[in-house]
Amino acid sequence: MSALVVVGAQWGDEGKGKVVDLYAPYADLVVRYAGGANAGHTLVVGGEKQILHLIPSGILHPQTRCVVGQGTVIDPSVFLKEIEALNARGVGTEGRLLVSQRAHVVLPHHKLIDELREKKSGGAIGTTKRGIGPCYEDKVARRGVRMGDLLDAGRLRGKLEANLECWRPVAEDLGGTLPVAEEIVAQYGALGDALRTYIGDAAEIVRASIQAGEKILLEGAQGTMLDIDNGTYPFVTSSNAVAGGACAGAGIGPTHIRHAVGIAKAYTTRVGGGPFPTELENETGQRLRDAGAEYGSTTGRPRRCGWLDLVALRHAVAVNGLDELAITKLDVLSTLPELEVCVAYELDGERLTYPPYDRLEDVQPIYETLEGWTEDLTSCRTRDDLPPAAQRYLARIEQEVGCRVGVVSVGPDREDTADLRDPFSP
Ligand code: IMP
Repeated sequence: MSALVVVGAQWGDEGKGKVVDLYAPYADLVVRYAGGANAGHTLVVGGEKQILHLIPSGILHPQTRCVVGQGTVIDPSVFLKEIEALNARGVGTEGRLLVSQRAHVVLPHHKLIDELREKKSGGAIGTTKRGIGPCYEDKVARRGVRMGDLLDAGRLRGKLEANLECWRPVAEDLGGTLPVAEEIVAQYGALGDALRTYIGDAAEIVRASIQAGEKILLEGAQGTMLDIDNGTYPFVTSSNAVAGGACAGAGIGPTHIRHAVGIAKAYTTRVGGGPFPTELENETGQRLRDAGAEYGSTTGRPRRCGWLDLVALRHAVAVNGLDELAITKLDVLSTLPELEVCVAYELDGERLTYPPYDRLEDVQPIYETLEGWTEDLTSCRTRDDLPPAAQRYLARIEQEVGCRVGVVSVGPDREDTADLRDPFSP
């Protein structure tokens, strides 16, 4: 098999970092294909916590090479800081980490506009304020600055001046002042110099890896319900987080992707605005938040928590063509006497088994009650080790969404995992 894609099957924060970390030792190449520094996963490197927003967690495995593909948007100062932090902790990055010269650059005014818009709307979308939306806007409007442009001051200046002119009226309307082109050229040109050996032809690396028959792990960011086309628009991020995004974002043909794994928590969380049918704004929601440490690794915001939404998961199975689900944080549900799972929605008297394109805020979740369990799951290493009620919970998921469950995460550490197998020989 050549490529495997790992996607978030909910609203992001499903624990992709841990699963990619578990799969990375089996891969020759890990490619991140979408999103930017809006994502984040916390890793423990040399006994110290390290949050990575852009670099795939596969970098911690010395034999694994990592590529940040053309579908991503890069804040070069964040990228450089991550490289420096990893190098300082003895994780060598030189020669095994490359960012695509085609990836678009998040510029200072992207962050400014993102922030001013959030302020003006009272945080309607609740973005991460990392400039993601405005950067992708520039990309689609064909006026973006790409990582390769940072290596040539003349080209950078020309593109920037034209780019800034487009944003000027927007910034003025929002009461902001755009930075001066020359300052950005100086700052970003210096970042380009510092990153020179890390910026290159990612497509060539991916191509050569396929030709050599290597194992490629395609790592998504955010989640299916935040995907610009398949998610809860407009409360979404600005990229294609779904498995299909891996083709364009990594520069790989669909025929090379042999397996798709969706990561889903055993319950549901969401950060930012937008409808969330199974949200629990009560004691149980707070209990999930506390037990699952549900606070954003990028923004620190408390995550909204709720019951497992199988309608959203069924949609994720369909739009990603999932072969397998990895269920994370099953241990967080331990000690809850009863568990609700949402099997359908009701809207205007009609039963829906897939999310409607609009009016998600008006649906009523239809729940099924399942029995909980009290046992600690952290030492379970196979599905058979799980208490019968937890096994039934997983079986019910499989039955409802039509996709088998493979890996099950039962605690934060690498070892706290049941049924881990080589994902390239599923
Ligand atoms: P943006 O991607 O910063 O533009 O934010 C758009 C929406 O996606 C907001 O609701 C964010 O909270 C959400 N979002 C973006 N990145 C992540 C992530 O990595 N995890 C969870 N939610 C995210």
